[in-house]
Amino acid sequence: MTTSPKVVSDAEIDALHPGQRRGVRAQDDDFTATGPATTAGDYLRRFWQPVYHSADLMPGCAVPLTIMGQEYTLYRAQVDGHSDAAPAYLVDGRCPHRGTQLSTGWIEGHQLRCFYHGWTFASNGQCVEQPAEEPDFSRKVSIGAYPVREYLGLIFAYLGELSQAQPPEFPEHPEFEHFDGLLEIDSYSRECNYFQNLENALDMSHVAFVHGDNRAAFREIGAGPRLQAEESAWGVRYIYQRPDGEQRIQQFGMPNMFYMTALPTDAEIGWQESLFWWVPIDDRRHMQFSIHRVPATGATAERIHARREARRSEITLAHQEVAEQILAGELRLADVDRDKVDLVRLQDDIAQVGQGRVAPRSLDRIGRADIGVIAIRKLWSRELEQLRQGQPLKHWKRDASIVPRAWGLAQGERARLGAEGLVADGSVQARIVDVRPHIAIRLQLRALHGRGGPADRASNES
Ligand code: FES
Ligand SMILES: [Fe+2]
Repeated sequence: MTTSPKVVSDAEIDALHPGQRRGVRAQDDDFTATGPATTAGDYLRRFWQPVYHSADLMPGCAVPLTIMGQEYTLYRAQVDGHSDAAPAYLVDGRCPHRGTQLSTGWIEGHQLRCFYHGWTFASNGQCVEQPAEEPDFSRKVSIGAYPVREYLGLIFAYLGELSQAQPPEFPEHPEFEHFDGLLEIDSYSRECNYFQNLENALDMSHVAFVHGDNRAAFREIGAGPRLQAEESAWGVRYIYQRPDGEQRIQQFGMPNMFYMTALPTDAEIGWQESLFWWVPIDDRRHMQFSIHRVPATGATAERIHARREARRSEITLAHQEVAEQILAGELRLADVDRDKVDLVRLQDDIAQVGQGRVAPRSLDRIGRADIGVIAIRKLWSRELEQLRQGQPLKHWKRDASIVPRAWGLAQGERARLGAEGLVADGSVQARIVDVRPHIAIRLQLRALHGRGGPADRASNES
């Protein structure tokens, strides 16, 4: 058992009772706004973030992308004869000439030509051609260009300021890369602030109610006195101890990651390890990207894959839309056809969007079972305060010791640790499999492309 410091002391927990149970002072609740020139936005932009699935970006295509309330253009080069090798690029969303959306233009090799008057930009953002202008004007014009890295089926971007023109080291996750099996990649958009989903990760007592059938499913799982939160080199180690002493450990990674073991989602899988990111699209909606380690091979892998494929098509109701109906009082969860919707996501939508698009957490009445939520808020508050004061920030890093764990499913069967099955010399690569329901892809692309969001609404109103 580890002796790391508790993020939340017993004295602080005691002070929560009674009467003074506010988690965050209103003036300190600045986790939520992540647009340009916000403290939380500045902080999040210091870390590589997943922004898109590689498979959704075709060679020679550009798409508009909104991340943290800022518009970008994501495109893939058109390289003759080598479509597989065509790199992805990320540049500003609008043309500096007269502001049209650059995603509507043409891809010419590695360059992007604006739809309106043909100004052309190299992948580093430099304007290289202005057909109707004097020859030496173009070298005075450039747009922002952002480092991109494709990894584990996702496109990651670094959206922060570049010191010495170099982004920070790209964090790799060998446990999810080098093993013999399937790496399932998944994602969805949710219509509320990202921080609500992030807090929900370290909130074990919601499971029996949101995902179970109420009190009968509770069985003390996530009861306050059985929970601990400790600061780790990566973020928060969140521990739940059963009455028999067995522990379940989940790892939260600053600022917006989570590494956990979850109960099997397929009869042929044991505990499944997953890595999550929550990325704001704007302040009122966000993406969850996740990767799932399925160390199954041969015929077992094929059976699991076939079942997943069937499920992708079977889901024909968008959980976000069903949640809106339920929150509007037009529909009851009990009346939803569970075969046609991703039930777990719908349940979490109801709870999290139900807190409000942007939850006012200064009004919360938190208690002992919220220790994980308190821990995340404390680390975030501390880092944002350091950032405001211009003080050094903690360098969060996950090493091989920071893995989740859980008890055995059957008598004597222990859960695997994260690195088990890892092929250390890197010679084996997991097979990447997209498991998103088809309907989820359509909705998340619409959200990522900035449609229906505040920017879109503002332009409609004008
Ligand atoms: S708006 Fe892009 S070239 Fe004119
Ligand atoms: Fe949940």
